[in-house]
Amino acid sequence: MIKLASTKPFAQGGNRLCYVHPDDKSKVVKVRRPDFTLEDLRKKKGFPKSLKPLSSFDDNLEEFKVLSAFQKKYGEHVFKHISRCYGFEETDQGKGLILELVRDGNGLISYNIKQYLYEVGPTESFNVALDAFCNFWQETSLPSRNLLAHNVLVQQDDMQRVVRLVVIDGLGYSGFFPKSMLTASYFEKRAKKKISLLRQDVEKYIARAKRGEHPTEIGILLHRDAD
Ligand SMILES: Nc1ncnc2c1ncn2[C@@H]1O[C@H](COP(=O)(O)OP(=O)(O)O)[C@@H](O)[C@H]1O
Ligand SMILES: [Mg+2]
Repeated sequence: MIKLASTKPFAQGGNRLCYVHPDDKSKVVKVRRPDFTLEDLRKKKGFPKSLKPLSSFDDNLEEFKVLSAFQKKYGEHVFKHISRCYGFEETDQGKGLILELVRDGNGLISYNIKQYLYEVGPTESFNVALDAFCNFWQETSLPSRNLLAHNVLVQQDDMQRVVRLVVIDGLGYSGFFPKSMLTASYFEKRAKKKISLLRQDVEKYIARAKRGEHPTEIGILLHRDAD
């Protein structure tokens, strides 16, 4: 049983808390936020989604299934741009999903795009990495929900050059029709749309940071696990 209660999460999203794995600094443990249960989430969704079983609202379970399916279908190379998943472990905060914890070359936990744009700005290496990521996403056309700037991480090397963008949330197909009814060209069009939304999100944060606005709290790191 992993003990998390006495440690501080390094980040929180809308649904989950993220902790550094106490036995392995290269892994993250994600647990459900105790102040926002699956029942709360189901209620918030309203009718007719509220008729679905509780397990269908569980991000950890959904992510585990999606990442396992991706590995089988697309192979190892998808882990260049999505975090690797190691399955579940019991914790004192409920079931925890264990994943690759993305860190920079200097050992600090990587920012997501939103925080990177506020803290560092749109550097040349960021723009190159964004183009490489978008090309990869279009080529593979991995099914995803909207790609949001706070769900894509910016990994820097020890010279602060951006070397990799990594999606850590919002993967999988969430459309209305069963996947088996859809063609490859459907997923290609869908990927194109998601890429253009991500680019819009990037532009939005660049403009906000320029105006000197402060970021909202979602996805802003609570600490970067510096020693
Ligand atoms: N594997 C990871 N490595 C580093 N940081 C991460 C990782 N996963 C999540 N984070 C950080 O934690 C934040 C919240 O995690 P996320 O999985 O998006 O939670 P939620 O499902 O609640 O939105 C992210 O915005 C990101 O900045
Ligand atoms: Mg998120």
